[in-house]
Amino acid sequence: MRRSASLFQVLLVFTTVVETQWSTVSGIYCKEMSPNVYRPHSVTITEFGAVGDGVTLNTKAFQNAIFYLNSFADKGGAQLFVPAGKWLTGSFGLISHLTLSLDKDAVIIGSLDSSDWPVVDPLPSYGRGRELPGKRHQSLIFGSHLTDVIITGANGTIDGQGATWWGWFHNHTLNYTRPHLVELMYSTNVVISNLTFKNSPFWNIHPVYCSQVLVQHVTILAPLNSPNTDGIDPDSSTNVCINHCYVRNGDDVIVIKSGWDEYGISLAQPSSNISISNITGETRGGAGIAFGSEMSGGISEVRAEGLRIVNSLHGIRIKTAPGRGGYVKNVYIADVSMENVSMAIRITGNYGEHPDDKYDRNALPMISNITIKDVVGINIGVAGILEGIQGDNFSSICLSNVSLSVQSLHPWNCSLIEGYSNSVIPESCEQLRSNCRQTPVCYDGSTSSAMRVQAPRHKSSTSQFLSPFLKLASF
Ligand SMILES: *[C@@H]1O[C@H](CO)[C@@H](O)[C@H](O)[C@H]1NC(C)=O
Ligand SMILES: *[C@@H]1O[C@H](CO)[C@@H](O)[C@H](O)[C@H]1NC(C)=O
Ligand SMILES: *[C@@H]1O[C@H](CO)[C@@H](O)[C@H](O)[C@H]1NC(C)=O
Ligand SMILES: *[C@@H]1O[C@H](CO)[C@@H](O)[C@H](O)[C@H]1NC(C)=O
Ligand SMILES: *[C@@H]1O[C@H](CO)[C@@H](O)[C@H](O)[C@H]1NC(C)=O
Ligand SMILES: *[C@@H]1O[C@H](CO)[C@@H](O)[C@H](O)[C@H]1NC(C)=O
Ligand SMILES: *[C@@H]1O[C@H](CO)[C@@H](O)[C@H](O)[C@H]1NC(C)=O
Ligand SMILES: *[C@@H]1O[C@H](CO)[C@@H](O)[C@H](O)[C@H]1NC(C)=O
Ligand SMILES: *[C@@H]1O[C@H](CO)[C@@H](O)[C@H](O)[C@H]1NC(C)=O
Ligand SMILES: *[C@@H]1O[C@H](CO)[C@@H](O)[C@H](O)[C@H]1NC(C)=O
Ligand SMILES: *[C@@H]1O[C@H](CO)[C@@H](O)[C@H](O)[C@H]1NC(C)=O
Repeated sequence: MRRSASLFQVLLVFTTVVETQWSTVSGIYCKEMSPNVYRPHSVTITEFGAVGDGVTLNTKAFQNAIFYLNSFADKGGAQLFVPAGKWLTGSFGLISHLTLSLDKDAVIIGSLDSSDWPVVDPLPSYGRGRELPGKRHQSLIFGSHLTDVIITGANGTIDGQGATWWGWFHNHTLNYTRPHLVELMYSTNVVISNLTFKNSPFWNIHPVYCSQVLVQHVTILAPLNSPNTDGIDPDSSTNVCINHCYVRNGDDVIVIKSGWDEYGISLAQPSSNISISNITGETRGGAGIAFGSEMSGGISEVRAEGLRIVNSLHGIRIKTAPGRGGYVKNVYIADVSMENVSMAIRITGNYGEHPDDKYDRNALPMISNITIKDVVGINIGVAGILEGIQGDNFSSICLSNVSLSVQSLHPWNCSLIEGYSNSVIPESCEQLRSNCRQTPVCYDGSTSSAMRVQAPRHKSSTSQFLSPFLKLASF
C-alpha cells in the first residue's frame, strides 16, 4: 500500500514534467502567429458605394474596395472596414496583406441568388465537387495564393443564409456543390478570428493547401439538422491552430482532411502540425473532432486538448475506406469532456463515398499511433465502435484514463484494430488490452517521440515511471 502510494506520487510528478514539456513542444507554430497586424491604410466599404440595408447587393462594392486596396499591398497592407449594417453580397475575393474587419454590429449576408456565387473548378485533391461531380460554387469569401490575410471583427457576423441552399440540396435542384463561407487556398499567414459564422450553405471555414493558419475566438452556428455544415475543415494544410471556439451545427465541429481517393493520393498534400484547444461543440449529425473521410494525402501530428462535446452524435471520429490510401497517424487527443453523446469514439474503416469508380480498391489507408486520454463522459450511448479494414489492421490505438457513463450493455465493439488501454471504464474491448509479451508504444503528442510502455513484469523500477499507461493495480 505504502509502495503504491509513493509510486503514484512519482508518477504524478513525472506526468507534470511531461505536460510542461508537451505544452512547449505543441503549437510552436501557434505562438508564431499574430492575430493583430497594424495596417497603415484603412477604407470603409461605404466609400465604395455599399449600402447596409440588407437589400442592396454589394458584391461590386466589395470587389472594387479590394481592387483599390491592392495598391497598398507593398505599403504595409490595408484594412477594409465593414461598419454596422446588413451587407448583402455575392462571392468576393481577398488579396494579400489585407485585414477584413467587421464592426460588432456588421452582418455580411450571402445573396440568395445562386448566380451571385460563380462556379469554379474542383479542387485537384478531390477531382470533382464534393457533393456533385463537376464544378462547384465559389465560397462567399475566398482567396488563393495569398499571404498575410486577416478576417476579423468584434464578433461581427457572416451569414450565409444557408436555408435556401439546404432546400435546394433536399429537393435535388442544385447544379453544383454548395459553397463554403470562407475558403482560402494556397495561402500562408492567415488569421480568422473574433467573428460569428452563421448558416453556411456547406462547410464554414475551409483552409486548403495552406500553412500558418490561426482560427480563434470564432462562433459557428447552424441548425442542428442542417446538412454538411461542418465548422472548421483544415484540408491539406500545415501548421494550423484552432482555439477558443464555440460551434453548434449539423455536421463535424472540427474535421481534418487531405483529399479524396486517387485525386488526394496523387496530389499527396498532407495535413500536419494541427493544434486544437479549448473548443466547445454541439453537433447532431457529426463529431466533435473528426479525421477524414477524405484523408488520402495523409494526416499527422495532430494535438487536440480541452474539448467539450455536448448533445452530439459522435465525440471523436476517424472515417476512412479502402480506396483512400493515405494515413492518419500521430494523433494525440486529451482532456475531453462529453455529455449526452450517442457514441464517444468511433473509428470507421468502411466509410465508403468515392469520387468516381476509378478509385483503387487496393489503396488501403494506414491508421496508427492514435492516443486518446483523459476523457470523461456522462450520459453516453455507446462507448465506441472501432473497426479497421480486413487485411489492414489499425494499430497503436491507445486509450488511457477514459471514464464514460454508458447506457449500452455492449459498450465497446472492436474489430481489426490493435492497441493498448489503461484505466478505461467501462473496460475496453479485448483488442486493446495490453499483451504482456509486447512492448507497446503509445504516441505521446510530442512531434518526434512516443512514450514507451513496457510490460509490467519486464520493467526496471525506474522505467515504470515513464508511462501514464501503467495500471497502478499491476504494482
Ligand atoms: C458572439 O456572438 C454570438 C452570436 O450572437 C454569441 O453567441 C457569442 O456569445 C458572442 N461571443 C462573444 C465573445 O461575445
Ligand atoms: C426547392 O428548394 C428551394 C430552396 O429552398 C425552393 O425555393 C424551391 O421552391 C424548392 N423546389 C421544389 C420543387 O420543391
Ligand atoms: C440549376 O439550373 C437550372 C437550369 O439552368 C436553373 O433553373 C436552377 O435555378 C439552377 N439551380 C440552382 C440552385 O442554381
Ligand atoms: C477577440 O476575442 C477575445 C475573446 O473574447 C478577446 O480577448 C480579444 O481581445 C479579441 N480580439 C480582438 C482583436 O478583438
Ligand atoms: C475557451 O473558449 C471560450 C470561447 O469559446 C472562452 O470564452 C473561454 O474563456 C476559453 N477558456 C480558456 C480557458 O481559455
Ligand atoms: C511541424 O512542426 C515542426 C516543429 O514543431 C517543424 O519542424 C516541421 O517542419 C513542421 N512541419 C511542417 C510540414 O511544416
Ligand atoms: C444533457 O441532457 C440532459 C437531459 O436531456 C439535459 O438536462 C442537460 O442539460 C444536457 N446537457 C447539456 C450539457 O446540454
Ligand atoms: C483523468 O482524466 C481526468 C479528466 O480529464 C482528469 O481530471 C484526471 O486528472 C485524469 N487522471 C489522471 C491520473 O491523469
Ligand atoms: C459488433 O459489430 C459487428 C459488426 O461490425 C456486429 O455484427 C456485432 O453484432 C456487434 N456486436 C455487438 C455486441 O454490438
Ligand atoms: C488484426 O487484429 C486482430 C485484433 O483486432 C488480431 O486478432 C489479428 O491477428 C490481427 N491481424 C493481423 C494480420 O495482424
Ligand atoms: C508511431 O510512433 C512511434 C514512436 O514515435 C514511431 O516510432 C513510429 O514510427 C510511429 N508510427 C508511424 C506509423 O508513424
